[in-house]
Amino acid sequence: MINIAIDGPSSSGKSTVAKLLSKKLNILYLDTGAMYRACGLKAKRLGISCLDEKGVASFIGNIDLQVKYENGAQHVYLDGEDVSNEIRKNEVSMLASQISSLSIVREKMLEMQREVASKQPCVLDGRDICMYVLPNAKYKFFMTADAKIRAERRYKELLSKDQNVTFDDLLREINERDYNDSHRAFAPLAIAPDATVIDTTHLTAEQVVDIIVNEVNKGEGK
Ligand code: DC
Repeated sequence: MINIAIDGPSSSGKSTVAKLLSKKLNILYLDTGAMYRACGLKAKRLGISCLDEKGVASFIGNIDLQVKYENGAQHVYLDGEDVSNEIRKNEVSMLASQISSLSIVREKMLEMQREVASKQPCVLDGRDICMYVLPNAKYKFFMTADAKIRAERRYKELLSKDQNVTFDDLLREINERDYNDSHRAFAPLAIAPDATVIDTTHLTAEQVVDIIVNEVNKGEGK
């Protein structure tokens, strides 16, 4: 069964590439960041700080979080409500980064992610996929890009959604999230020793997809 694991920092292009890959290879795509975003949103709605471990422990075990696929696109439901658009808001990015540092949250998400991945060929993207969620995945990649380029990509994406942000704020937030995500105690963002590193600074999403498809075809003897 084809399992593709992709890790990398914020806005390195993982989700764009993973979406294209899932269409090209006809496999499922699970955006694991969306799940941490939904956890952050839940805490916010309950008025609980994402850094308050006891507060988060009070709801995470029973969180009503579902990932569904509608017309080929992933939708995230929280308490029965489709929050797919809301979790993309910029304010939720930092909440997701904070709440994802808690081991109780990571354990819960890991369980849900492995369950999805065990049932079908899939591509998962996130921060800890290669080393923790799917350590036995046959295909592992680490996508990265210069922080300024990532901030530019994110800036364009948010502008197209009419979100009021400045480039400087985004760059600062991206650096802050990189720091949080790679310095936490549990499953920090790191390059797996057996992952292929792809620097996307000067590559289009299609070029990255071609690199990955080539590796998969080689590995599958095609
Ligand atoms: O990929 P993203 O920006 O949607 O992820 C939001 C946050 O969730 C990110 O800052 C770190 C966290 N995350 C994680 O810790 N592990 C993952 N597998 C995916 C995301």
